[in-house]
Amino acid sequence: MATIKNKRIESILSEALGILKPSDEEIMTTTTFSNQIMERLRIEAPKDVDIIMAGSVSRGTQIRGSSDIDIFMLFPKTSNSKSMEDKGMRIAKRIVDKKRGEYYKIKYAEHPYLQLISKNPPIKADIVPAFKIKDSYERGSSVDRTQLHNVFVMENFTKKQCDDVRLLKGFLKFHSIYGAEAKIEGFSGYLSELLIYNYGSFMNTLSSISKLKLPISIDPKSRSILSAEKNIYFKSDFVILDPTDENRNVAAAVSKEALSKFILISRRFLKNPSIDFFYGNEYSDNNSKSRLNALRTKYGFDMYNITFEVFNISEEILWQQSKKMTKQLEDILQKNSFNPIISLIDIKGGSGIISIFLNKYELNSVVRQGPDVFIENASDSFMEKNQLVFIKGYKIMSLKHTEFNTPMNLMRGILKSNALTIPSYIKKKSIHISLNKISESNAKLIYRRYIELTKI
Ligand code: UTP
Ligand code: MN
Repeated sequence: MATIKNKRIESILSEALGILKPSDEEIMTTTTFSNQIMERLRIEAPKDVDIIMAGSVSRGTQIRGSSDIDIFMLFPKTSNSKSMEDKGMRIAKRIVDKKRGEYYKIKYAEHPYLQLISKNPPIKADIVPAFKIKDSYERGSSVDRTQLHNVFVMENFTKKQCDDVRLLKGFLKFHSIYGAEAKIEGFSGYLSELLIYNYGSFMNTLSSISKLKLPISIDPKSRSILSAEKNIYFKSDFVILDPTDENRNVAAAVSKEALSKFILISRRFLKNPSIDFFYGNEYSDNNSKSRLNALRTKYGFDMYNITFEVFNISEEILWQQSKKMTKQLEDILQKNSFNPIISLIDIKGGSGIISIFLNKYELNSVVRQGPDVFIENASDSFMEKNQLVFIKGYKIMSLKHTEFNTPMNLMRGILKSNALTIPSYIKKKSIHISLNKISESNAKLIYRRYIELTKI
């Protein structure tokens, strides 16, 4: 019985790998192109600068169609990081070949890097200046670690494990939890690699994750579980130590939601393995607006759409700020007796949208929780300020007429009164709130986010 199931799993995984592994042609194209870029950099850079390929393409853990190249320029640690970066960026800019239709964008992670965009072949290459180091204690910034990650993976992974990384990345990506960026808050490429190394294989990773209990601290290098002190040190329930730097929790960006989803989909796959966990027909996003409306009718909620324009700044910061503003809105709604059900965000082409699903409300008054009776001053002043007061447990409560009788009145009110702190890169004057109205293009974005959220 077990063997029949194992055979089936084997064939599902090999089918999935067939989809996830880059074709020989893709590998050829990326290799040729990155060799070319590295050669150009070697010509321009001083002799003591090492030009290396890093990231998943160099490690053989990339998945098909996302073979963006990571190239590092490693400078000897003789200058300060600012002048090293300046030098690196100057050199990188010089090798962008406009005649071939290449252009670049300056990007910022913790440090600046250059993204070279080529149309033919259609490949993006991140060119990152960093210091050449042998050990993490020498590092100036977090980008310096990448070369150490490369060594760790290239020295320790079998071919089968590289393929298992691809399976894991595909599995996570299909469920929208692959990537450490603020939009996703999921599992990065390097974290996927460490999970495979620690548990040995894709299947072992899934069975361990399916039984995961928190808090946990894992040291992949020794494949052991560490004491809870590490959780306290990193202030996190889920710690995966970086084998190249014991002061780094590689899982720091993983949200509770992403981890929970990983656990649920692992259990579901083990119970009922199928290729559907790796790919499937893309849902249709035609008529997203009417699909959202149908959803609204079925469950009877209202959809508040907050649209706004954003400044031209890194996606990462925009996502952080939009999430912060959403959290703030949810908290204020909650405090005023409205319970947000689901909030969805997207940002595209200079504008953003937050959709908050709420039950239909019309309130006359709200209950407010006052202080404990034991706190004399606070309870005296609460009683003086409020009219209809009553006691619940040891707390004084009040019932108060509210001018914010609907979520719309509340949100418009706090926007006007500045009770909502607008993050710096959201254009305040552009903020617009509407009820159940949404453009088809925004509906497409929000419906996609809804599908991503609920595909478990
Ligand atoms: P990438 O984001 O390109 O990841 O960063 P990746 O491992 O190549 O995975 P995919 O296949 O492109 O999605 C390249 C390397 O930079 C380091 C890691 O070593 C990573 O492998 N890195 C990147 C970090 O250490 N932290 C980060 O937040 C991002
Ligand atoms: Mn990469």
